[in-house]
Amino acid sequence: MTTSSLDRPTGARKPLAELTGLVPLAATTACPDPQHVFRRLRAEHGPVAPVELEPGVHAWLVMGYQEILTVTRQEQVYSCDPNDWSAHHDGSLPADSLLRPMMSPYDNAFFVNGERHRRLRAPIAGGMAEIDQRAMRRAVAALCTDVIGAFAGRGEADLVADYAAIVPVLAIADRFGLNTVESHELQAGLAAMFAWGADALAAREKVMKILADVVAARRATPSRDLTTYLVEHPNLRGDAEIYDTMVLTLVAANENTMSCIAQTLRLMLTDERFAGRLRGGRLGVDDALDEVLWRDPPMTNAPARYALRDTELAGQPVRRGDAMILGLTAANADPRIHASGEPWREVGNRAHLSWGAGPHACPAQIPARLIVRTAVETALHLLPGVRLAIPVEELVAVPSPWGRTPQSIPVRFTPVRHRDSEPL
Ligand code: HEM
Repeated sequence: MTTSSLDRPTGARKPLAELTGLVPLAATTACPDPQHVFRRLRAEHGPVAPVELEPGVHAWLVMGYQEILTVTRQEQVYSCDPNDWSAHHDGSLPADSLLRPMMSPYDNAFFVNGERHRRLRAPIAGGMAEIDQRAMRRAVAALCTDVIGAFAGRGEADLVADYAAIVPVLAIADRFGLNTVESHELQAGLAAMFAWGADALAAREKVMKILADVVAARRATPSRDLTTYLVEHPNLRGDAEIYDTMVLTLVAANENTMSCIAQTLRLMLTDERFAGRLRGGRLGVDDALDEVLWRDPPMTNAPARYALRDTELAGQPVRRGDAMILGLTAANADPRIHASGEPWREVGNRAHLSWGAGPHACPAQIPARLIVRTAVETALHLLPGVRLAIPVEELVAVPSPWGRTPQSIPVRFTPVRHRDSEPL
């Protein structure tokens, strides 16, 4: 560990409520180099900085590696339940706030603490551990081949909308035991639900019907899939908890895995170091994925924990009800934890925080890696001569305070017919 001016911040150490003129959290995502912003925040405030989530809504951005471990591991001090956030009670959160989807209470493992969390999480973690990785890889390669088949003849595509946004839900739907038609209906339904358009409610009903049908079918005739595992799990009490668990799994899988596929493809298509991949170059998809997880993980800033009592973190006066945002990208580059600025170059170093940490850390790390790796490999393999169709500087991120997922990745390649091709 090294000490530096980072340990001697210059900013005033006041409670969040007394601070004004704070840096918006979105400034850390809507910029070409987030580390530049994190360096400025660290220099002024140290590893925990006050930020503005929306006008008048403040939070602490936790940028220190050690501090993230403290916040995620100390459940008795930091809660996952948004009911513990003062903004829900003091009128500071507008009714139409865009923060609500990620920072409002829902009845699933992600938003609860302690015993209830352990009870609801066990079926997900257990279901992930049951996955036959070889079978899943074959299934994911086949569905990726199928998705590519829909655009391979065009010679051009958007690898986000046409590919990365579709594959994760299909991969999880396959684990739930849905057939291809049902999987595509589920994917379209979830996409409409989260676009929050006029058809969002109808889409939600459709999604719930697909899930209810497969639950009823597995109750009648058990199979060897994730739905059967959840239906038979003693921890889940009634159908509502089963549906909530399925929706959480789909939602948690969708955005994060889509972002990781997109970022890994972007890196491999734009960085010279990966150009030799198909000619037997040393750096491959695993290396690119590790680099993405260190440098540009899906959750630049992950919501959230809420202080259960007044406390202090890295010298900052945290008050009961304050929101703590997990600055995962910042913490992965915490200058106090590695002397070399590029930890992904250390072979096998996967000590980043991009899966979160503590009892809520992502329970699906193995299947998530498998889906990303298979999706990227399959695209690079089946799209001959694939290359970016615009200059890399023109790739922009979806506007969000939480991540930096590319809005689109337009590519060109030699048109091919893949509908009938065998999976890898
Ligand atoms: C590369 C892709 C993924 C990344 C980077 C990722 C990352 C994360 C992160 C940062 C969290 C929050 C941890 C915290 O708050 O401490 C999380 C939670 C979660 N993830 Fe993932 N995830 C990915 C893919 C998936 C997939 C494919 C699934 C399901 C099949 C999944 C299921 C979940 C669930 C259920 C939770 C909530 C766990 C809990 O609260 O106990 N994730 N993930």
